[in-house]
Amino acid sequence: MLLDRRISVAPMMDWTDRHCRYFLRGFSPLTLLYTEMITAAAITRGHARRLLEFDPEEHPVALQLGGAEARELALAARIGEEAGYDEINLNCGCPSERVASGAFGACLMREPQRVADCVAAMRAAVRVPVTVKMRIGVVSAADAAWREALAGFEEADEQALHEFAGRIRLAGCAVAIVHARKAVLGGLSPKDNRQVPPLRYDVVRRLRLAFADLPVVVNGGLRDAAAALDALTWCDGVMLGREAYHRPRVLTELHRALAPQVPVSQERALLLERMARYAERRMLEGEPLQAITRHMLGLCAGEPGAKEFRRLLSEGARAAGAGPALIRRAASVG
Ligand SMILES: Cc1cc2nc3c(=O)[nH]c(=O)nc-3n(C[C@H](O)[C@H](O)[C@H](O)COP(=O)(O)O)c2cc1C
Repeated sequence: MLLDRRISVAPMMDWTDRHCRYFLRGFSPLTLLYTEMITAAAITRGHARRLLEFDPEEHPVALQLGGAEARELALAARIGEEAGYDEINLNCGCPSERVASGAFGACLMREPQRVADCVAAMRAAVRVPVTVKMRIGVVSAADAAWREALAGFEEADEQALHEFAGRIRLAGCAVAIVHARKAVLGGLSPKDNRQVPPLRYDVVRRLRLAFADLPVVVNGGLRDAAAALDALTWCDGVMLGREAYHRPRVLTELHRALAPQVPVSQERALLLERMARYAERRMLEGEPLQAITRHMLGLCAGEPGAKEFRRLLSEGARAAGAGPALIRRAASVG
């Protein structure tokens, strides 16, 4: 199956779990959804079933792996493919301390050959596409001039980025997903690392032009459908993170712009009925209601009754005995 990558939702730890993905699927059948990052070690050491389970409605869905050992990543990729994932993605963009200490995530951008070896091993292990999510560069807070390095993008940065892209492409990477910011290793919190380094779409655009045979998906700071559609004029796809989570209707806006022939209903009551039925199934397996409703608070963002909707769902789901009826009740708010 050829994946439509024009619109995707970013991997987001603690956010894009299976319940969140099921919810987001209701906004567009087109969007490619990513899991949270799951470490290859957690998958290969016996927790695969619990970590990888998902609902068939989530398709197309990609598994993001964290790791830096080629053999372990290859095994995890194969387990992921067997579990039904449509793509396996390697995280080379996450700068959190915890990830850096495990020597994977964004710090891997300094080891292009190692990443290439990992990609090649994953490619050899699976038939589905293997992709890489990366930054445009990395800066170490241990360097005295890191703030200046973060602000600029010099010839050496460009060379390092193109060297990295060239190696992963040769190793069989199907798509480079590029968060258009540098990452700071060791100096900024993960949250600041997503907003302090300047956005450089121009750098991603040059990368796209330099590698005709490496599709590039751009990520970072896309806040509305217009910005995403504009980016699609020069790259192969856009990946939305925070905006899709906080205002999922942006996915429907994009769907309607790109695939108007495939109807998608946006009636609040229908979206909620779908989720109430989903909650019925999951709660039978012991899942708490709140694990599902916590991802749904943005459904009415920007619409009348948004605040009341959030309050009803977040407080209601904590109440003893709360069940799917709460989700149905939320349909009448506003
Ligand atoms: C809560 C949260 C968790 C994240 N976890 C991951 C992750 O597990 N793997 C990853 O590659 N990026 C992760 N990211 C980064 C996003 O995938 C994305 O690159 C970033 O948010 C920029 O896109 P945006 O501006 O559209 O949100 C996370 C972002 C957020 C907000």
